[in-house]
Amino acid sequence: MFDPRGPSFFELARQALSSTTRGYDLLAPKFEYTPFRTPDELVEPLAQAVGPEKSVDAALDLCCGTGAVMRALRSRCRSHVTGVDLSQGMLDEARRQLAHSPGEAEIRLLRQDVFKMEFKDEFDVVTCCGAFGHILEPDQDRFAERVKAALKPGGRFLFVTTPMPPVTSRRWWVSRTFNAAMHVRNALIKPPFIMFYLTFTLERAEEVLSAHGFELDVSAPFDEPYDVMRLVSARSVM
Ligand SMILES: C[S@@+](CC[C@H](N)C(=O)[O-])C[C@H]1O[C@@H](n2cnc3c(N)ncnc32)[C@H](O)[C@@H]1O
Repeated sequence: MFDPRGPSFFELARQALSSTTRGYDLLAPKFEYTPFRTPDELVEPLAQAVGPEKSVDAALDLCCGTGAVMRALRSRCRSHVTGVDLSQGMLDEARRQLAHSPGEAEIRLLRQDVFKMEFKDEFDVVTCCGAFGHILEPDQDRFAERVKAALKPGGRFLFVTTPMPPVTSRRWWVSRTFNAAMHVRNALIKPPFIMFYLTFTLERAEEVLSAHGFELDVSAPFDEPYDVMRLVSARSVM
């Protein structure tokens, strides 16, 4: 599952016993070598959906981590590409990783909670990858409001998600078992580590984003083993 350059079992355990932000601070130097970093096979089709080089002024990547998506977005932006994340360790690693990324757009990295963002009509594109596990159902309306406010009218929110797997599938059971273990861990150990699977499925994303004035276009541009994933382009229309 892990690259030899990735974290050891004990490092992962230490991360899982920390708070969400401290956990990512600890993981940051090795995050690129974990399966939690969104793979380029998902990032590239998403970046292509933004458009060709310099096709937008500004893009914002939410929960940017070590900047995997920002690296692909930068050349598509004329002015700036911004990443927001709670973990300073992840942002420091993103700055290192982005230093030689293609493109000339200014790189802005902000340590901030996505629920507290105050952007207003600033971005042509907002993206979010591999982080919906941190955006739990009761918070998803607030999240959609922040995304909507950050986008210029007509701007797009691009992300990757998956339809809810059938209850008979292995994926459903593995995800639900992980979530149950996380609830137990959080009941026993403080501070909590907030990370749950199948939180912002395609069905849930359609429900939440439609209610916030987005029109969704769903495509399936990914090859195996990611062919179960969907690319969503949600346009802010009202
Ligand atoms: C699994 S990583 C994904 C990183 C990157 N998007 C990728 O796909 O490789 C999740 C990231 O979300 C960040 N995060 C979690 N909750 C957040 C919040 N409320 N506001 C900002 N960042 C958050 C974490 O610090 C972490 O860097």
